[in-house]
Amino acid sequence: MRIGVLTGGGDAPGLNAAIRAVFKRCEKYGYEVVGIRRGWAGMLNKECFELKPEDVKEIVGKGGTMLKTSRTNPLKIPKGIETVSKNFKEMRLDALIAIGGDDTLSVAKALSEAGLKVVGVPKTIDNDVARTDATIGFDTAVNMAMRVIENLKDTAESHERVFLVEIMGRYAGWIALYSGIAAGADLILIPEEPFKIEDVVNFVKKRLEKGEKSTVIVVAEGALIADYKGPITKETKVDQFGHVRLGGIGEFLAKEISKAVGVETRAVAPAHIIRGGPPTAFDRFMATRYGIAAVDLVREGKFGMMVALRSGKIVAVPLSEALAEMKKVSPELYEEAKTLF
Ligand code: F6P
Repeated sequence: MRIGVLTGGGDAPGLNAAIRAVFKRCEKYGYEVVGIRRGWAGMLNKECFELKPEDVKEIVGKGGTMLKTSRTNPLKIPKGIETVSKNFKEMRLDALIAIGGDDTLSVAKALSEAGLKVVGVPKTIDNDVARTDATIGFDTAVNMAMRVIENLKDTAESHERVFLVEIMGRYAGWIALYSGIAAGADLILIPEEPFKIEDVVNFVKKRLEKGEKSTVIVVAEGALIADYKGPITKETKVDQFGHVRLGGIGEFLAKEISKAVGVETRAVAPAHIIRGGPPTAFDRFMATRYGIAAVDLVREGKFGMMVALRSGKIVAVPLSEALAEMKKVSPELYEEAKTLF
């Protein structure tokens, strides 16, 4: 058996642990493993190499992905699916393990529907893949973001300033919510709960009246202002999966607060800093379990499925179910968080 493995979309800490686990499980079964470079781009261009034991040595704790990644979408390229299918045969693959978020997995689903033997592994710092409790990279991103917010709290208190911390997460507020709560942020704004600018301004004013001279507000990059058309973006151009580059809500709110309240307000966006660096033990462990389970799915002939974590157990769910919706922060969970602000 010859199994291909690729990583697509934004990188995430823990990907290397998953690749290593795929290799090790295949080694146990006597299977060959082909590393596909740069996600779906590698399948379109036949960019691949046979993985050897030394390739996966000492990579478990390294961030990023040793296979490289891209946001290439074969569904948006003329004859993309046909080309991938043809290359699959020419590369003599028996099966393919695609490690990615909803974009990468949507291509895996399309290929599976076209008859290719594909299984998926959920990865994204955004944690927005449905039917799984965890995606590779989320825990590390939360911990990184928590440290950034804590650091900013120190300097905000010393200088008696207001800070806006803009946190990645695209259309979901998971990273902002988890890291904001863990770091003791004063307010957390997420895409799932559109807010009014005047409410944020009044929140800061009230704190000042109570003698709280510093405020740290965590705002998810995709947070929505009520009555605005959509999230604030860096540019209008979209990628091959139709995503626009988000960013700027922190700066925007900082200006509004400074104008309305007259206090020094700064915006910080750690951006990709939370997406790099060594994965947490949780991400390494879970990614390893996912890698092992993905090879087992191939061995059992269960294609068109994604490995998932559900109440501590590794299970398999159809890709079609995982991609039917985006996993978002529920109103109940946000309500619970509001106890703190
Ligand atoms: O999906 C992961 C993510 O980091 C999002 O949180 C963010 O909006 C996006 O990727 C940024 O992508 P890129 O690095 O391609 O600009």
